[in-house]
Amino acid sequence: MSQQILILAGDGIGPEIMAAAERVLEKINQQFNLGLSWSHGLMGGCAIDAHGVPLPDVTLEAAQKADAILLGAVGGPKWDQIERSIRPERGLLKIRSALNLFANLRPAILYPQLADASSLKPEIVAGLDLLIVRELTGGIYFGQPRGIRELENGEKQGFNTDVYSESEIRRIARVAFDMARLRGSRVCSVDKANVLEVTELWKQTVTALQQSDYPDIELSHLYVDNAAMQLVKAPKQFDVMVTGNLFGDILSDEAAMLTGSIGMLPSASLDEHGKGMYEPCHGSAPDIAGQNIANPLATILSVAMMLRYTFKAEAAAKAIEAAVGKVLDQGLRTGDIMSAGMTRVGTDAMGDAVVAALG
Ligand code: IPM
Ligand code: MG
Repeated sequence: MSQQILILAGDGIGPEIMAAAERVLEKINQQFNLGLSWSHGLMGGCAIDAHGVPLPDVTLEAAQKADAILLGAVGGPKWDQIERSIRPERGLLKIRSALNLFANLRPAILYPQLADASSLKPEIVAGLDLLIVRELTGGIYFGQPRGIRELENGEKQGFNTDVYSESEIRRIARVAFDMARLRGSRVCSVDKANVLEVTELWKQTVTALQQSDYPDIELSHLYVDNAAMQLVKAPKQFDVMVTGNLFGDILSDEAAMLTGSIGMLPSASLDEHGKGMYEPCHGSAPDIAGQNIANPLATILSVAMMLRYTFKAEAAAKAIEAAVGKVLDQGLRTGDIMSAGMTRVGTDAMGDAVVAALG
Protein backbone atom coordinates (compact mmCIF):
# COMPACT_ATOMS: atom_id res chain seq x y z
CA MET A 1 0.00 0.00 0.00
CA SER A 2 1.24 3.47 -0.77
CA GLN A 3 2.24 5.79 2.02
CA GLN A 4 -0.15 8.65 2.64
CA ILE A 5 0.72 12.28 3.34
CA LEU A 6 -1.83 14.85 4.46
CA ILE A 7 -0.96 18.34 3.27
CA LEU A 8 -2.27 21.28 5.28
CA ALA A 9 -1.20 24.45 3.50
CA GLY A 10 -2.87 26.73 6.04
CA ASP A 11 -2.98 30.51 5.91
CA GLY A 12 -0.98 33.54 4.75
CA ILE A 13 2.03 32.45 2.71
CA GLY A 14 1.19 28.80 3.49
CA PRO A 15 -0.49 27.97 0.14
CA GLU A 16 2.33 29.56 -1.91
CA ILE A 17 5.24 27.91 -0.15
CA MET A 18 3.36 24.61 -0.10
CA ALA A 19 2.73 24.75 -3.85
CA ALA A 20 6.48 25.07 -4.38
CA ALA A 21 7.22 22.26 -1.91
CA GLU A 22 4.63 20.04 -3.60
CA ARG A 23 6.43 20.33 -6.91
CA VAL A 24 9.60 19.18 -5.17
CA LEU A 25 7.70 16.33 -3.54
CA GLU A 26 6.28 15.24 -6.92
CA LYS A 27 9.71 15.23 -8.48
CA ILE A 28 11.46 13.33 -5.68
CA ASN A 29 8.63 10.82 -5.40
CA GLN A 30 9.02 9.93 -9.03
CA GLN A 31 12.83 10.11 -9.08
CA PHE A 32 13.28 7.77 -6.12
CA ASN A 33 10.17 5.72 -6.74
CA LEU A 34 8.98 6.39 -3.19
CA GLY A 35 5.35 5.39 -3.74
CA LEU A 36 4.02 8.36 -1.77
CA SER A 37 0.60 9.82 -2.38
CA TRP A 38 -1.04 12.82 -0.78
CA SER A 39 -4.25 14.68 -0.21
CA HIS A 40 -5.14 18.11 1.15
CA GLY A 41 -7.00 19.31 4.20
CA LEU A 42 -7.87 22.49 6.07
CA MET A 43 -6.38 23.65 9.35
CA GLY A 44 -6.05 27.10 10.90
CA GLY A 45 -7.83 30.24 9.77
CA CYS A 46 -8.96 28.69 6.49
CA ALA A 47 -10.66 25.93 8.50
CA ILE A 48 -12.31 28.50 10.77
CA ASP A 49 -13.72 30.21 7.67
CA ALA A 50 -14.99 26.94 6.21
CA HIS A 51 -16.04 24.99 9.32
CA GLY A 52 -15.99 27.42 12.26
CA VAL A 53 -13.13 25.62 14.04
CA PRO A 54 -9.36 25.57 13.42
CA LEU A 55 -9.07 21.76 13.42
CA PRO A 56 -12.26 20.20 12.00
CA ASP A 57 -12.93 16.52 12.78
CA VAL A 58 -12.52 15.60 9.14
CA THR A 59 -9.00 17.05 9.17
CA LEU A 60 -8.10 15.34 12.43
CA GLU A 61 -9.37 11.99 11.12
CA ALA A 62 -7.38 12.39 7.90
CA ALA A 63 -4.32 13.29 9.99
CA GLN A 64 -4.81 10.21 12.14
CA LYS A 65 -4.94 7.98 9.06
CA ALA A 66 -1.97 9.59 7.29
CA ASP A 67 1.62 8.42 7.76
CA ALA A 68 2.89 12.00 7.77
CA ILE A 69 1.53 15.53 7.73
CA LEU A 70 3.07 18.41 5.89
CA LEU A 71 2.00 21.76 7.28
CA GLY A 72 2.50 25.25 5.83
CA ALA A 73 1.66 27.89 8.42
CA VAL A 74 -1.47 28.90 10.30
CA GLY A 75 -2.94 32.11 11.64
CA GLY A 76 -3.18 35.78 10.77
CA PRO A 77 -4.70 39.06 11.96
CA LYS A 78 -8.06 38.12 10.45
CA TRP A 79 -8.57 35.51 13.20
CA ASP A 80 -6.77 37.23 16.10
CA GLN A 81 -9.89 38.70 17.64
CA ILE A 82 -12.06 35.60 17.71
CA GLU A 83 -12.69 33.64 20.85
CA ARG A 84 -9.49 32.13 22.28
CA SER A 85 -10.69 28.53 22.21
CA ILE A 86 -11.10 28.51 18.42
CA ARG A 87 -8.11 30.56 17.33
CA PRO A 88 -5.82 29.04 14.68
CA GLU A 89 -3.06 28.31 17.25
CA ARG A 90 -5.51 26.09 19.10
CA GLY A 91 -5.74 23.86 16.04
CA LEU A 92 -1.99 23.44 16.10
CA LEU A 93 -1.90 22.59 19.82
CA LYS A 94 -4.80 20.18 19.40
CA ILE A 95 -3.27 18.25 16.52
CA ARG A 96 0.07 17.99 18.37
CA SER A 97 -1.69 16.63 21.40
CA ALA A 98 -4.20 14.38 19.62
CA LEU A 99 -1.49 12.73 17.54
CA ASN A 100 0.92 12.54 20.48
CA LEU A 101 3.61 14.43 18.59
CA PHE A 102 5.76 14.89 21.67
CA ALA A 103 9.18 15.25 20.07
CA ASN A 104 9.81 18.51 18.28
CA LEU A 105 13.08 18.67 16.38
CA ARG A 106 14.22 22.15 15.45
CA PRO A 107 17.57 22.28 13.73
CA ALA A 108 19.39 25.62 13.51
CA ILE A 109 21.84 25.36 10.65
CA LEU A 110 23.70 28.24 9.11
CA TYR A 111 24.32 27.56 5.45
CA PRO A 112 27.85 28.70 4.59
CA GLN A 113 26.39 30.58 1.60
CA LEU A 114 24.29 32.68 4.01
CA ALA A 115 26.88 33.46 6.70
CA ASP A 116 26.32 37.21 6.19
CA ALA A 117 22.60 36.93 6.96
CA SER A 118 23.20 36.54 10.71
CA SER A 119 23.25 39.59 12.93
CA LEU A 120 26.12 37.96 14.84
CA LYS A 121 29.73 38.09 13.67
CA PRO A 122 30.41 35.42 11.03
CA GLU A 123 33.13 33.77 13.16
CA ILE A 124 30.61 33.22 15.98
CA VAL A 125 28.04 31.51 13.75
CA ALA A 126 29.85 30.17 10.66
CA GLY A 127 29.24 26.43 10.49
CA LEU A 128 26.55 26.50 13.17
CA ASP A 129 24.67 23.20 13.31
CA LEU A 130 22.66 22.66 16.44
CA LEU A 131 19.50 20.72 17.10
CA ILE A 132 16.90 21.75 19.64
CA VAL A 133 14.75 18.89 20.88
CA ARG A 134 11.66 20.44 22.45
CA GLU A 135 9.04 18.49 24.38
CA LEU A 136 5.80 19.40 22.61
CA THR A 137 2.76 17.85 24.26
CA GLY A 138 3.29 18.52 27.95
CA GLY A 139 4.57 21.10 30.41
CA ILE A 140 2.89 24.41 31.02
CA TYR A 141 1.25 24.40 27.57
CA PHE A 142 -1.10 21.62 28.61
CA GLY A 143 -0.88 21.43 32.42
CA GLN A 144 -4.03 21.61 34.52
CA PRO A 145 -5.37 23.55 36.32
CA ARG A 146 -5.25 26.59 34.09
CA GLY A 147 -7.44 29.58 33.54
CA ILE A 148 -8.37 33.07 34.63
CA ARG A 149 -10.37 33.24 37.84
CA GLU A 150 -11.87 35.98 39.93
CA LEU A 151 -10.61 36.43 43.47
CA GLU A 152 -12.82 37.33 46.40
CA ASN A 153 -11.75 40.96 46.17
CA GLY A 154 -12.98 41.03 42.58
CA GLU A 155 -9.49 41.07 41.09
CA LYS A 156 -8.77 38.65 38.26
CA GLN A 157 -5.93 36.14 38.52
CA GLY A 158 -4.42 34.10 35.68
CA PHE A 159 -2.77 30.74 36.38
CA ASN A 160 -1.11 27.83 34.58
CA THR A 161 0.58 24.65 35.75
CA ASP A 162 3.97 23.40 34.66
CA VAL A 163 3.99 19.63 35.02
CA TYR A 164 6.17 16.76 33.77
CA SER A 165 6.11 13.12 34.78
CA GLU A 166 9.23 10.93 34.71
CA SER A 167 7.97 8.95 31.71
CA GLU A 168 7.38 12.14 29.70
CA ILE A 169 10.87 13.37 30.54
CA ARG A 170 12.47 10.03 29.74
CA ARG A 171 10.89 9.66 26.32
CA ILE A 172 11.97 13.12 25.14
CA ALA A 173 15.44 12.69 26.64
CA ARG A 174 15.74 9.40 24.78
CA VAL A 175 15.00 11.18 21.49
CA ALA A 176 17.69 13.76 22.27
CA PHE A 177 20.27 11.10 23.17
CA ASP A 178 19.44 9.04 20.07
CA MET A 179 19.76 12.12 17.86
CA ALA A 180 23.07 13.01 19.51
CA ARG A 181 24.42 9.56 18.63
CA LEU A 182 23.88 10.42 14.96
CA ARG A 183 25.69 13.75 15.37
CA GLY A 184 28.26 15.00 17.87
CA SER A 185 27.32 12.80 20.86
CA ARG A 186 26.70 15.78 23.15
CA VAL A 187 23.44 16.79 24.83
CA CYS A 188 22.79 19.90 26.89
CA SER A 189 19.65 19.69 29.00
CA VAL A 190 18.07 23.04 29.81
CA ASP A 191 16.10 23.61 33.02
CA LYS A 192 15.43 26.07 35.81
CA ALA A 193 16.18 23.56 38.55
CA ASN A 194 17.36 26.28 40.93
CA VAL A 195 13.78 27.55 41.18
CA LEU A 196 11.23 25.13 39.70
CA GLU A 197 10.66 21.64 41.14
CA VAL A 198 9.25 20.42 37.85
CA THR A 199 12.61 21.03 36.22
CA GLU A 200 14.52 19.66 39.20
CA LEU A 201 12.83 16.35 38.41
CA TRP A 202 13.62 16.95 34.73
CA LYS A 203 17.32 17.29 35.52
CA GLN A 204 17.44 14.22 37.77
CA THR A 205 15.56 12.07 35.27
CA VAL A 206 17.68 13.08 32.29
CA THR A 207 20.85 12.46 34.32
CA ALA A 208 19.70 9.00 35.45
CA LEU A 209 18.81 7.99 31.88
CA GLN A 210 22.20 9.10 30.59
CA GLN A 211 23.94 7.05 33.28
CA SER A 212 21.91 3.90 32.68
CA ASP A 213 21.48 3.89 28.89
CA TYR A 214 23.70 6.47 27.24
CA PRO A 215 27.18 6.40 28.82
CA ASP A 216 28.62 7.26 25.40
CA ILE A 217 26.83 10.63 25.35
CA GLU A 218 28.33 13.66 27.05
CA LEU A 219 25.56 15.31 29.07
CA SER A 220 25.67 18.86 30.42
CA HIS A 221 23.04 21.05 32.08
CA LEU A 222 22.29 24.76 31.87
CA TYR A 223 19.72 26.95 33.55
CA VAL A 224 17.50 28.47 30.88
CA ASP A 225 18.65 32.05 31.46
CA ASN A 226 22.26 31.03 31.02
CA ALA A 227 21.35 28.89 28.00
CA ALA A 228 19.73 31.92 26.34
CA MET A 229 22.90 33.89 27.00
CA GLN A 230 25.25 31.15 25.79
CA LEU A 231 23.24 30.82 22.57
CA VAL A 232 24.14 34.35 21.53
CA LYS A 233 27.61 34.31 23.07
CA ALA A 234 29.00 31.03 21.73
CA PRO A 235 26.31 29.00 19.95
CA LYS A 236 28.75 26.56 18.39
CA GLN A 237 29.41 24.97 21.79
CA PHE A 238 26.09 23.13 21.42
CA ASP A 239 25.30 19.92 19.58
CA VAL A 240 21.85 18.83 20.82
CA MET A 241 19.81 20.83 23.35
CA VAL A 242 16.84 19.18 25.06
CA THR A 243 14.23 21.07 27.03
CA GLY A 244 10.56 21.39 27.93
CA ASN A 245 7.76 22.93 25.94
CA LEU A 246 7.95 26.57 27.03
CA PHE A 247 11.74 26.94 27.22
CA GLY A 248 11.96 25.12 23.88
CA ASP A 249 9.52 27.53 22.28
CA ILE A 250 11.68 30.48 23.30
CA LEU A 251 15.13 29.01 22.74
CA SER A 252 14.22 27.63 19.31
CA ASP A 253 13.22 31.09 18.07
CA GLU A 254 16.45 32.47 19.46
CA ALA A 255 18.48 29.72 17.79
CA ALA A 256 16.63 30.21 14.51
CA MET A 257 17.47 33.90 14.52
CA LEU A 258 21.16 33.14 15.01
CA THR A 259 21.13 31.88 11.46
CA GLY A 260 19.55 35.12 10.28
CA SER A 261 17.31 33.17 7.99
CA ILE A 262 14.31 31.69 9.69
CA GLY A 263 12.96 31.22 6.15
CA MET A 264 15.44 28.34 5.81
CA LEU A 265 14.57 26.26 8.87
CA PRO A 266 12.38 23.16 8.84
CA SER A 267 11.04 21.26 11.83
CA ALA A 268 9.61 17.88 12.69
CA SER A 269 7.16 16.83 15.40
CA LEU A 270 7.24 13.08 15.94
CA ASP A 271 5.30 10.50 17.87
CA GLU A 272 6.76 7.33 19.35
CA HIS A 273 6.46 5.40 16.08
CA GLY A 274 8.07 7.86 13.69
CA LYS A 275 4.83 9.32 12.42
CA GLY A 276 5.34 13.02 12.14
CA MET A 277 4.12 16.45 11.26
CA TYR A 278 6.62 18.54 9.32
CA GLU A 279 6.53 22.31 9.02
CA PRO A 280 8.71 25.34 8.47
CA CYS A 281 9.77 27.18 11.65
CA HIS A 282 8.49 30.50 10.36
CA GLY A 283 4.91 31.71 10.61
CA SER A 284 2.23 32.60 8.08
CA ALA A 285 3.67 36.08 7.33
CA PRO A 286 0.32 37.62 6.32
CA ASP A 287 2.05 40.90 5.41
CA ILE A 288 3.71 39.30 2.38
CA ALA A 289 1.05 36.70 1.51
CA GLY A 290 -0.09 36.39 -2.09
CA GLN A 291 2.89 38.28 -3.51
CA ASN A 292 5.02 35.34 -4.62
CA ILE A 293 7.99 36.60 -2.57
CA ALA A 294 8.05 34.22 0.43
CA ASN A 295 10.94 31.79 0.86
CA PRO A 296 9.74 28.22 0.22
CA LEU A 297 13.03 26.59 1.26
CA ALA A 298 12.04 25.85 4.88
CA THR A 299 8.98 23.96 3.62
CA ILE A 300 11.06 22.17 0.98
CA LEU A 301 13.58 21.20 3.68
CA SER A 302 10.63 20.01 5.79
CA VAL A 303 9.85 17.59 2.97
CA ALA A 304 13.44 16.33 3.31
CA MET A 305 12.97 15.83 7.07
CA MET A 306 9.74 13.93 6.38
CA LEU A 307 11.48 11.61 3.95
CA ARG A 308 14.25 11.02 6.49
CA TYR A 309 12.29 10.48 9.70
CA THR A 310 8.95 9.02 8.65
CA PHE A 311 9.72 7.34 5.33
CA LYS A 312 13.33 6.36 6.10
CA ALA A 313 14.34 7.55 2.63
CA GLU A 314 17.70 9.02 3.57
CA ALA A 315 19.07 9.22 0.01
CA ALA A 316 16.02 11.16 -1.17
CA ALA A 317 16.24 13.50 1.84
CA LYS A 318 19.91 14.16 1.11
CA ALA A 319 19.11 14.80 -2.55
CA ILE A 320 16.68 17.58 -1.60
CA GLU A 321 19.16 19.12 0.83
CA ALA A 322 21.88 19.00 -1.82
CA ALA A 323 19.52 20.61 -4.35
CA VAL A 324 18.85 23.45 -1.91
CA GLY A 325 22.60 23.90 -1.47
CA LYS A 326 22.97 24.01 -5.23
CA VAL A 327 20.41 26.78 -5.77
CA LEU A 328 22.12 28.81 -3.03
CA ASP A 329 25.44 28.23 -4.81
CA GLN A 330 23.81 29.47 -8.01
CA GLY A 331 23.20 32.74 -6.16
CA LEU A 332 19.41 32.50 -6.10
CA ARG A 333 17.83 34.29 -3.13
CA THR A 334 14.35 35.22 -2.00
CA GLY A 335 14.03 38.67 -0.44
CA ASP A 336 14.54 37.48 3.16
CA ILE A 337 18.03 36.11 2.42
CA MET A 338 18.99 38.55 -0.33
CA SER A 339 22.46 40.09 -0.32
CA ALA A 340 24.59 42.10 -2.73
CA GLY A 341 25.53 40.40 -5.98
CA MET A 342 22.88 37.67 -5.70
CA THR A 343 19.86 37.08 -7.94
CA ARG A 344 16.50 37.84 -6.36
CA VAL A 345 13.79 35.33 -7.19
CA GLY A 346 10.20 34.74 -6.13
CA THR A 347 8.57 31.77 -4.41
CA ASP A 348 7.68 29.91 -7.61
CA ALA A 349 11.05 30.43 -9.25
CA MET A 350 12.85 29.24 -6.11
CA GLY A 351 10.73 26.08 -6.03
CA ASP A 352 11.34 25.45 -9.72
CA ALA A 353 15.08 25.97 -9.26
CA VAL A 354 15.13 23.25 -6.57
CA VAL A 355 13.18 20.90 -8.86
CA ALA A 356 15.66 21.60 -11.66
CA ALA A 357 18.62 21.08 -9.32
CA LEU A 358 17.28 17.63 -8.49
CA GLY A 359 18.12 16.78 -12.08
C1 IPM B 1 5.69 27.36 17.74
C2 IPM B 1 4.64 28.41 17.89
C3 IPM B 1 3.46 27.80 18.66
C4 IPM B 1 3.96 27.36 20.01
C5 IPM B 1 2.23 28.71 18.77
C6 IPM B 1 1.78 29.22 17.41
C7 IPM B 1 1.11 28.04 19.49
O1 IPM B 1 5.15 29.51 18.56
O2 IPM B 1 5.41 26.33 17.10
O3 IPM B 1 6.79 27.55 18.24
O4 IPM B 1 4.02 28.17 20.94
O5 IPM B 1 4.31 26.19 20.15
MG1 MG C 1 7.26 29.44 18.89
